[in-house]
Amino acid sequence: MAEITVVHDAAALAEAAAAQFVQAATQALARQDRWAVALSGGATPQAAYQRLAAPDLASQVDWARVHFFWGDERCVPPDHPESDYGMARAALLDHIPVPPANVHRMRGELDPAEAAAAYQAELENFFGLAWPRFDLVWLGLGEDGHTASLFPGTAALRETQRYVVANWVEKLNAWRLTLTAPVINHASRRTFLVTGSRKAQILKEVLQGPYQPEVRPAQLVLPEAGALVWLVDRDAASQL
Ligand code: 6PG
Repeated sequence: MAEITVVHDAAALAEAAAAQFVQAATQALARQDRWAVALSGGATPQAAYQRLAAPDLASQVDWARVHFFWGDERCVPPDHPESDYGMARAALLDHIPVPPANVHRMRGELDPAEAAAAYQAELENFFGLAWPRFDLVWLGLGEDGHTASLFPGTAALRETQRYVVANWVEKLNAWRLTLTAPVINHASRRTFLVTGSRKAQILKEVLQGPYQPEVRPAQLVLPEAGALVWLVDRDAASQL
């Protein structure tokens, strides 16, 4: 059952998301050796990354045992302004003592199919033969109902075998790299971060509308087990 938490505004959402990250990481690292998180791209998580990098929160996490992955990536080099990795590096990774070997970025600069195959191998190497079980996956929600880079009507929506694919997105006239829905649903915990009135209609449709994942791919996020949290601000929740 999804848990929906409504907070005041984007600043409160960043605060809550960062606090939840620290709590989940510290609790897990008290009983396990490492903690694997898949970060989201787009604009919404940036403030939460910056909040996490602040000393009062950053000092609480044993970053040497945290492994960073991405839920999706644009097919651009890491220093490109549209790079999801680049955004997270500037907002968080450059400000915490995480070993470079713990940062597993999608290589957006490569040929898309090659980049997807390389990340599949990276996930197999890290998680072994079992299906990847991230400890936490952060997700966003596009106004068209996409999450990660699972866009309406695209081939990646129907993927059931691979962990990560190169997904052609006609409306963007671009390739994207994205984790697939089975991997997102296999995680121990996944949290959607959603802010702003422009997301209110789609949030209502995703949470309360008919089940049509081809049209609203965020509806594919239906975990077998583990937590599904929607962390949204009042504006985004205004139609719920
Ligand atoms: C990306 C994201 C994507 C994002 C949504 C929402 O790489 O763009 O991973 O899924 O979360 O597009 O984006 P905003 O937060 O910018 O509204």
